[in-house]
Amino acid sequence: MKLKLAIQKSGRLHDDSIKLLKECGIDINNGVNRLKTEASNFPLEVFFLRDDDIPQYVEDGVADLGIVGENVVMEKNKQVQVVEKLGFGKCRLSVAVPKAMDYSGVQDLHKLRIATTYPVIVDDFLKKNSITAEIHEISGSVEIAPGIGLADAICDLVSSGSTLFMNGLKEAEVILKSEAVLIANNGLNAAQQQILDKLLFRIKAVKKAKN
Ligand code: PRP
Ligand code: ZN
Ligand code: MG
Repeated sequence: MKLKLAIQKSGRLHDDSIKLLKECGIDINNGVNRLKTEASNFPLEVFFLRDDDIPQYVEDGVADLGIVGENVVMEKNKQVQVVEKLGFGKCRLSVAVPKAMDYSGVQDLHKLRIATTYPVIVDDFLKKNSITAEIHEISGSVEIAPGIGLADAICDLVSSGSTLFMNGLKEAEVILKSEAVLIANNGLNAAQQQILDKLLFRIKAVKKAKN
């Protein structure tokens, strides 16, 4: 019996996800170009997938566990359990507008075209603020949308802020804060739960050692 853990194939969470496993004493040979690998000293198989797809795979049981941003869990709204916050991948999901725009509050988003990978969260945010705007869902490179005339504003993850800066954008509204979390399938059997408990025990020890 092995647990299948899905982690991000490449991107902000990839390296820290691998690092966490190493710190837990779990040896995997990480080939970024490979789809999966096996731990040599722990009952774990690791799949490398697009972060946005991970909640679906965990809900379906294709993977038993996943490491993703809380924001992705919220956007996808899947039936999975959030088992543990992991303390890395801290960022915020924010609306950003061109630097030159005279922005004084959320009402300034009225009637704008907003490009985002998170249409569900943005729609909810707009509704709560009684704003009518046009949401353009795009799957990547959201930050270039205003520059090429595809949108007036964006909503995307901000960590250091350098992506916004390099694209002539400024943060206008923080919608939510996010960090990496461990998610699990809702129907783990007793043997699987036992392995998860063992993994969790190590993760908690690693987190404690850092405080
Ligand atoms: C996020 C976001 C920006 C970048 C922001 O991408 O989409 O591209 O991080 O970080 P910064 O403020 O430090 O510049 P992510 O790494 O989540 O990858 P993805 O968009 O491919 O999922
Ligand atoms: Zn992503
Ligand atoms: Mg990105």
